[in-house]
Amino acid sequence: MTAEEIRKKYLEFFGVRGHAIVPSSSLVPENDPTTLFTGSGMQPMVPYLLGEPHPLGKRIADSQKCFRAQDIEEVGDNRHTTFFEMLGNWSFGDYFKREQIAWMWEFLTVELALDPNRLYFTCYGGNETLGIPRDTEAAALWQNLFKEKGIDTTIAQDAETKGLQGARIFYYGDKKNWWSRVGVPLAMPVGEPGGPDTEMFWDFGEQRLLHEHSVWKNEPCHVNCDCGRFMEIGNNVFMQYVKTENGFSLLPEPNVDFGGGLERMAVASMDIPDVFLSDLFTKTRQMLEGMTGKTYISDGEETRALRIIMDHIRVAVFLLGDGVTPSNTDRGYVLRRVMRRAIRYGDTLGLSPGSLSLLSQSVIDEYRAPYPALVEHAHSIREEIGNEEDRFRLTLEKGMKELERRVKSGKVSGKDVFDLFSTYGFPFEMTKEIAEERGIEVPTEDFQEEFKKHQELSRTASAGKFKGGLADVSEKTTALHTATHLLLAGLRKFLGESVHQAGSNITEERTRFDFTFPEKVSRETLTRVEEYVNEAIASRASVETEVLDKEVARASGVEGSFWEKYPDKVSVYRVRGENGTLYSQELCGGPHVRTTEGMGRFRIVKEEASSSGVRRIKAVLE
Ligand code: ALA
Repeated sequence: MTAEEIRKKYLEFFGVRGHAIVPSSSLVPENDPTTLFTGSGMQPMVPYLLGEPHPLGKRIADSQKCFRAQDIEEVGDNRHTTFFEMLGNWSFGDYFKREQIAWMWEFLTVELALDPNRLYFTCYGGNETLGIPRDTEAAALWQNLFKEKGIDTTIAQDAETKGLQGARIFYYGDKKNWWSRVGVPLAMPVGEPGGPDTEMFWDFGEQRLLHEHSVWKNEPCHVNCDCGRFMEIGNNVFMQYVKTENGFSLLPEPNVDFGGGLERMAVASMDIPDVFLSDLFTKTRQMLEGMTGKTYISDGEETRALRIIMDHIRVAVFLLGDGVTPSNTDRGYVLRRVMRRAIRYGDTLGLSPGSLSLLSQSVIDEYRAPYPALVEHAHSIREEIGNEEDRFRLTLEKGMKELERRVKSGKVSGKDVFDLFSTYGFPFEMTKEIAEERGIEVPTEDFQEEFKKHQELSRTASAGKFKGGLADVSEKTTALHTATHLLLAGLRKFLGESVHQAGSNITEERTRFDFTFPEKVSRETLTRVEEYVNEAIASRASVETEVLDKEVARASGVEGSFWEKYPDKVSVYRVRGENGTLYSQELCGGPHVRTTEGMGRFRIVKEEASSSGVRRIKAVLE
């Protein structure tokens, strides 16, 4: 079955089971200050997992574009990609383990027609210290489903040391079977939702990828080992906990958060242990074969380079399509890094300059139907890739000479690495890679220090520039969020209806709000905006929320940017004074205060340029 068919089948399967199907959100998260990119289907769903009502109800499904930059080094094996589509379904306080597990079993064994004899499952083994029990319920549910097919299985533990032990269901600990955006329970900040999960694996067969020949040959083979025999094809998270000051408490309602890699499901259904052979790569693979004169095979000498190019060109296309442009900070830096890495690997295969720009068209063509926006932006995507290659080539030669000169002069210091980065745009990791390929040692400590400095810099920059949304859901942050709605309404009142939100970042201390406006806003106008917000606060306004048809909301003057990204039904938040005055009405996912009483006085501290056509305001509640 092709990935295309599986995407369709999955959405239909959950559609007929009462799920509203929503479009994929952008790779650039709108309201998630925890990461630079959307890395899982649940990220856009966090407010609803925490209890906000979703405008489309309690059952949602989608196929979400995901980018995991942290996996960049892993790309090259048979299953890792930095970009993938995650099939997702959610229950917000509706169905739970029993339904989810039964549906998944049905989806895998009936819809995808996977042989149950080759399915394996893992469940959460529990954590006594935290008082979170072992998930015996999930394990028993899988066990019964096997039984219905006439397959008897035991439930095993300690697979890392004892191997498969003839079982098909295994308990693992926090690292493998607990899921939150930040990982294990201990890493979670207060307010973060998470929970035990149960993962599903496909067995490509002992004969296909011999564990004995892998680098893991001295360790027992088990479903979570990396030899390639087993592939995780989906994860059912039972999001029922939230981190508190003292440990964990139960969320008001238990949720289900499922995520499954589309290509992985596709290659499991084809029984081919290589995601790069899924149909979603066909056009790119064939074009790349033509360009390099090499034939793609799963275990060739050049397979790693071909895979890296296929992966990196795809994510570059999707990032550019979502409005990211290459630069030296934050998202732009990550994009630059994948593009330049693809160019370098292309060079090793003898790709001629300009090839990647051409290759990007194959990605656009592959995704023409599900992501028509890529076709719209095809020209600029190809152009950006071409330009970045030109920029890189201009400096590559000089930078390489510089790198070698410094090597000859003794050693490469952390500062050299930084210079190469700032003058020649060499991503740090690339300098290290190039140097190592030439047997040049970059002093790791020096390098790491410089790298850390850079990361801190870009983190600060991203906190300051890119990350949208609320830093937390404390009372103060929530009050500033409501104040931010009033601020936008005030700006639109005094500067006109062409003003829209271009980004926001809200912490306990202040709100930082970007909006579209071509020139500096006078102090006089800012004072009027402040007065407008303070009048609303003083009117002891209440915040009401209503679910409306998108078109109705739009026609009735509700403010919002990115309308096209919202589903057909939307949540509207209104701030209305005690005397009935409507101060603000805006699309939003919350959270907001119930009443403006006690919010304090609103003051605009600063107004400045943010980028071309965008102004930035910093404001506080005192
Ligand atoms: N949120 C879960 C994951 O990303 C499903 O694996």
